[in-house]
Amino acid sequence: MKILVTGGTGYIGSHTCVELLNEGYEVVVIDNLSNSKIEVVDKIKEITNKDFKFYEGDCCDKNLLIKIFKEHKIDAVIHFAGYKAVGESVQVPLKYYRNNLDSTITLLEVMNEFNCKKLAFSSSATVYGKPKSLPIKEDFPLSTTNPYGTTKLMIEDILRDLAKSDNEWSIAILRYFNPIGAHKSGLIGENPNDIPNNLMPYIVKVATKELECLSIFGNDYDTKDGTGVRDYIHVVDLAKGHIKAIEKVLKDKGVDAYNLGTGNGYSVLEIVNTFKSVNDIDVNYKITTRRPGDIDACYADPSYAKEKLDWEAKLGIDEMCKDAYNFVINYNKDE
Ligand code: NAD
Ligand code: UFG
Repeated sequence: MKILVTGGTGYIGSHTCVELLNEGYEVVVIDNLSNSKIEVVDKIKEITNKDFKFYEGDCCDKNLLIKIFKEHKIDAVIHFAGYKAVGESVQVPLKYYRNNLDSTITLLEVMNEFNCKKLAFSSSATVYGKPKSLPIKEDFPLSTTNPYGTTKLMIEDILRDLAKSDNEWSIAILRYFNPIGAHKSGLIGENPNDIPNNLMPYIVKVATKELECLSIFGNDYDTKDGTGVRDYIHVVDLAKGHIKAIEKVLKDKGVDAYNLGTGNGYSVLEIVNTFKSVNDIDVNYKITTRRPGDIDACYADPSYAKEKLDWEAKLGIDEMCKDAYNFVINYNKDE
């Protein structure tokens, strides 16, 4: 089975390529390297000891996609490619609508043309907006609070319309909660060049003294210790969820959405304290005001993915914190 992975050198895509190759799938990757580095291709090969074809290019480039589908008999696609920074999407919404929508529609058109109608799509828990209760189930009402989230919801709608129009399509919409951590090898992971927006990359940069102090955005939320609660999921568990989703789309028809989370909510302070203790390192922090748009708490009911995909997360926050730090230490050593 040959799987096209768009955005395959990115954070979640690279871990998923490793799992796919380990499971014996053939892999083809397209990535324009707008948010990842070419070195990742070799790291994936080093971890798996397997080869795969990499195309540097854009998913909005229809001719390139056609060339890829002509050169390979693709059985299914995992579509990670897209921009993901919530704050930036508020500043430059057209950049997000153009890239996330255009790349997806172009990909779907080419898939249609080549009669490849099996897809797993990276959606996000952000499509639940401010959930009415917790834990979040897949049938909760959907709404968004920023352009990035709106692109995800719009794409979900496009996929539902497509599946309705043609019952040959088989689509898994995967709603990720908060992926953190890295591959055990320390060879791939997440290490943004800019000042990170997300909690774990920020904590790591404070631990390595690249940044001075973590700002904890508010301690007056309606949560166990007042800081925000999220469902952090180890990126390797998340990657394994994609294998199950691919198995599902290869054998079934129709469209369905699945929460990929652990079902456990941890507060910012719990994450910081766990990080400090498992890595035996200090993380300087201060409490500041709330970040606009943040919600108190968000965690999944992951039982539907367990029932339908036979998947559940296995790794806990100790491993997540250890592996996130290990990757960056290893990365900085090589720089
Ligand atoms: P990432 O930025 O590390 O990976 C995305 C990859 O896509 C990058 O390598 C980038 O270079 C590439 N890319 C972007 N636009 C492209 C285009 N037009 N053509 C070709 N390549 C393109 O992000 P990630 O964390 O691995 O996220 C993967 C997907 O999962 C994204 O769609 C993201 O929105 C979604 N998601 C991520 C999170 C998260 O917290 N990381 C949460 C929910 C959903
Ligand atoms: N936080 C801080 N300080 C920081 C960064 C974050 O206190 O410097 C807090 C936030 O307030 C929040 C928690 O840490 O309570 C997690 O914040 P992240 O930015 O890491 O993650 P979010 O839950 O805000 O959003 C992430 C992705 C979105 C995605 C969403 C749901 O960034 O793209 O998870 O999957 F939609």
